[in-house]
Amino acid sequence: MHPELRAATFADQPAIQRLIEASVRELSASHYNPPQIEASLTTAFSVDTQLIADGTYYVAHVAGELAACGGWSWRKTLCGGSHHVDRDASPMNPATDAAKIRAIFVDPRYARRGLGTLLLRRAEEAAIAAGFSRMEMGATLVGVPLYQREGYVEVERMNVPLRDGITLPVVRMLKVVIPA
Ligand SMILES: CC(C)(COP(=O)(O)OP(=O)(O)OC[C@H]1O[C@@H](n2cnc3c(N)ncnc32)[C@H](O)[C@@H]1OP(=O)(O)O)[C@@H](O)C(=O)NCCC(=O)NCCS
Repeated sequence: MHPELRAATFADQPAIQRLIEASVRELSASHYNPPQIEASLTTAFSVDTQLIADGTYYVAHVAGELAACGGWSWRKTLCGGSHHVDRDASPMNPATDAAKIRAIFVDPRYARRGLGTLLLRRAEEAAIAAGFSRMEMGATLVGVPLYQREGYVEVERMNVPLRDGITLPVVRMLKVVIPA
């Protein structure tokens, strides 16, 4: 498999949205129930256009087909798409704050083939190049094993409010990068 990685553009938005929905519905089913999954897709998980505008969101294509996406941010919002309620677009200070790893989703047909790791490492490289030495994320329960393997540690368990009293358990995870 030879994935091609590049920055996402607004033209990618419809394909990214389709991928997010397929990814969450299939790959999250082991950890979240159907009401949580459907509520998360209308409130928490969607394309965050801010990341595309910032040039910090990436897409991986395999044989011309979108197979995975993900990115990072120097803004304060921890997780969620453009419609998520708990947002703060103000910039962080790389010297004191942790870059946010954001919205890594893999097409179920390409799961467990290293694309999640590829996107995570690409996001980390860019955050380090921007001066950050700490990374954090609001990890889904599905994502935790991948992030643990890549050096992230659990900071706290959180319940993200979705809609109608439904919440989504996520784990805030942190990684400190030792400068080379
Ligand atoms: C979490 C997710 C991004 C992982 O993507 P992926 O491309 O399948 O991950 P990788 O192939 O890079 O996996 C690397 C390692 O992470 C661990 N891992 C990944 N998915 C796992 C799973 N479902 N269960 C257990 N371990 C898993 C394994 O150690 C794996 O190595 P292995 O396959 O050699 O055992 C993908 O499952 C996904 O898109 N899930 C739905 C959306 C989501 O929750 N995204 C995370 C948002 S924070």
